[in-house]
Amino acid sequence: MTEPTIAGEPDIDTDRRQELATRLEQRLREVTERDAYDSGLGAAMNPTPKTTHQQSHIERTPHARTRRDRPPSRPFIRVPSREMGMRIALLGGTGDIGEGLALRFGRDTNHELLIGSRDPEKARDAVAEYKTTLEDHTDSVDIKGFANEMAADRADIVVCSVPPYHVGDTVEGVADSLDSDTVLVTPAVGMKGDADGLHYHPPSAGSVTELVAERAPDEVPVVGAFHNLAAGALADLETDLDLDTLVVADDEAARDTVLNLAGELEGLRALAAGPLANAAEVESVTPLVINIAKYNDDMHDVGVKWV
Ligand SMILES: NC(=O)c1ccc[n+]([C@@H]2O[C@H](COP(=O)([O-])OP(=O)(O)OC[C@H]3O[C@@H](n4cnc5c(N)ncnc54)[C@H](OP(=O)(O)O)[C@@H]3O)[C@@H](O)[C@H]2O)c1
Repeated sequence: MTEPTIAGEPDIDTDRRQELATRLEQRLREVTERDAYDSGLGAAMNPTPKTTHQQSHIERTPHARTRRDRPPSRPFIRVPSREMGMRIALLGGTGDIGEGLALRFGRDTNHELLIGSRDPEKARDAVAEYKTTLEDHTDSVDIKGFANEMAADRADIVVCSVPPYHVGDTVEGVADSLDSDTVLVTPAVGMKGDADGLHYHPPSAGSVTELVAERAPDEVPVVGAFHNLAAGALADLETDLDLDTLVVADDEAARDTVLNLAGELEGLRALAAGPLANAAEVESVTPLVINIAKYNDDMHDVGVKWV
């Protein structure tokens, strides 16, 4: 005798039903932290709502592609950088940390800024907004909007300012535009939240920074920086930062480039914190500063100064 069926559902027998249930259970058991970073399942595992700028570190949207699927890098011809400075791409530069960094770089440096987005129109809209904000703070700023791939293709420094569960895919998506002369910077921190606050949630690579290094072409130097800065503080140009940012890298030249670049921002001191293997310690400070802001009414956009 067949099992009763739900109206409109195909009739499937008990064995088949059991088999499907077993497969589902097995799949759920297979869901590890690695899956969360590799397939976006972290979103489903950690459905904490975004309540502040900084909580947007927590990530929700699914994606699915791994390093194995990526085509090999092809040779790439760089557009020469401006005499005055470097070209800095902010992938996902339409978001919170992207806005903060764009405004600070725009005000405090002469570098050319390339705002990247999955949607070039969105990038151009963001550029128009940033230009308006910067009008009161600087005489000239060189800033343009592009699709992420185009921004990365033109840049000397590529800052991957997208949510942590998507940095891997984003890096792979622009891999053909990166080479050994491009410095790839990641500020990404994975966190999960509960009633107590936010907690560091690294991928199995050890840290998001190391995940980025795994997913980037081997020859591209990766640097972790800007993890503990609050986007809100960066974007408020009236705020005197008086903060530190910690920089981790295996490649010394790339590390020094980012130390110098970060140090160009007024009120920001950049400190070396060792190789990429130390990134987890740096990233884990971010939920701490957000929790301090949560539990102290008079503290917003908390940052760190090491003395
Ligand atoms: N917010 C902070 O205070 C702060 C501080 C330090 C570090 N960080 C780190 O910086 C990174 C960005 O944080 P955020 O707060 O700026 O994030 P966000 O505002 O939520 O997102 C930044 C941008 O990422 C792009 N994006 C969104 N979903 C994507 C997907 N599925 N695939 C590819 N790109 C996607 C979007 O740009 P388009 O739609 O234009 O493509 C979005 O504007 C995170 O990794 C975070 O851990 C944040």
